[in-house]
Amino acid sequence: MEQWHPTSWQQKRALQQAIYPSAEALHQALEQLAELPPLVTSWEIESLKEQLAAAERGEAFLLQGGDCAENFSDCSSPIITNKLKILLQMSLLLIHGLNRRVIRVGRIAGQYAKPRSADTETRAGVTLPSYRGDLINGPEFDAQSRIPDPVRLLRGYGRAAMTLNFIRALSDCGFADLHHPEYWNLDFVQHSPQAAEYRRVVAELSSSLRFMESLIGGGNSELNRVRFFTSHEGLHLHYEQALTRKVPNRSGYYNLSTHLPWIGFRTTALNGAHVEYFRGIRNPVGVKLGTGLSSADIQALVERLNPKNESGKLILIHRFGSDAVGDELPRMLESVHRSGIHVLWVCDPMHGNTESTASGYKTRRFSKILSELEQSFDIHRQQGSILGGVHFELTGDDVTECIGGARGLDEAGLERAYKTQVDPRLNYEQALEMAMAIVRRSV
Ligand code: PEP
Ligand code: CO
Repeated sequence: MEQWHPTSWQQKRALQQAIYPSAEALHQALEQLAELPPLVTSWEIESLKEQLAAAERGEAFLLQGGDCAENFSDCSSPIITNKLKILLQMSLLLIHGLNRRVIRVGRIAGQYAKPRSADTETRAGVTLPSYRGDLINGPEFDAQSRIPDPVRLLRGYGRAAMTLNFIRALSDCGFADLHHPEYWNLDFVQHSPQAAEYRRVVAELSSSLRFMESLIGGGNSELNRVRFFTSHEGLHLHYEQALTRKVPNRSGYYNLSTHLPWIGFRTTALNGAHVEYFRGIRNPVGVKLGTGLSSADIQALVERLNPKNESGKLILIHRFGSDAVGDELPRMLESVHRSGIHVLWVCDPMHGNTESTASGYKTRRFSKILSELEQSFDIHRQQGSILGGVHFELTGDDVTECIGGARGLDEAGLERAYKTQVDPRLNYEQALEMAMAIVRRSV
């Protein structure tokens, strides 16, 4: 294998990259980025890796979730806190039901770059470059907005820093105190069909917490506080490279823009630029896997991405769709098992279940999302493997983007609050209901 360096990906084919009108302007923005301080630390990254190793052994469970694409305009207090609240609430249900620690990882503070299936978009006879996420261009359908602008890389870094700053401040104060789950209540919780079950779980957890504290003497700061980690798709390789650094007293390079970067399904080519970049960084890395990969492909991929065969290093996020998972997953588990490489298995039941309604909304059905999850738990169990986590697109807000769930949202109801610019997310109630369903299926 050739030597790795943060720039070695540039010798390979990079799919899904923006084409900037001025190479000089791009270069200037990247030079500035490379001078700015890191967003996360190697200590946090190593701690996450240890926790992911525990999830691999079945001692912890990964809850990864957030927007398909964050928008710069979503960098606001209510949107960030609502997202943290729903992740906290789901994690409480999971801790209680699975009796395992939960590792909370947001698709947050940097989820700004999107792969697209088409390079252009046509509306009413006008064709423009596709929107590729706020890190690259603007969503508005006009020629100016769709031109990739490198200044957005600096704005994205700034938005990620502001978001993280707020998350860290909240986690350090009462917000993330396990004694006060009432701080996480979202206004509409009392009207939700899941309210009673959620309140029961909170009451039981609070009483076990009090019991444990009286047993061990109280005031244990680990119990008082919950932690959040960040993740995003490492798609824009120039951006990722600019934040890839060496740190004192540790060997190798860390991507210090996020704790857990992942490779999207469209950029998993073994000899492509993304796999090249990801194989050399010290972070734990995720990779999305779907239909169409041969056993040889998948074995080569896991060996390339976990070259030292470390635990807690490689997260395989399968996203087949509810119709295909039954055929595809058993073969994939078998191939990876044969490779002998350590991996953490996670199910993304969102991206294989996307469809469009007659009226043109991109949506997903709650029943299909749940079905893929349930099938995945069963298949892993049958094969003696562990499904150690879940990956969702969700929001803490009351949007109407996915069909179904306890409230029976139907096609006609989508238009009330359809807000996503890219993929449809579970709303607050649907996300809670999903956490309850996971608990029912996996115990
Ligand atoms: C995503 O996670 O938003 C995404 C594009 O997923 P995938 O790479 O699995 O298609
Ligand atoms: Co998506």
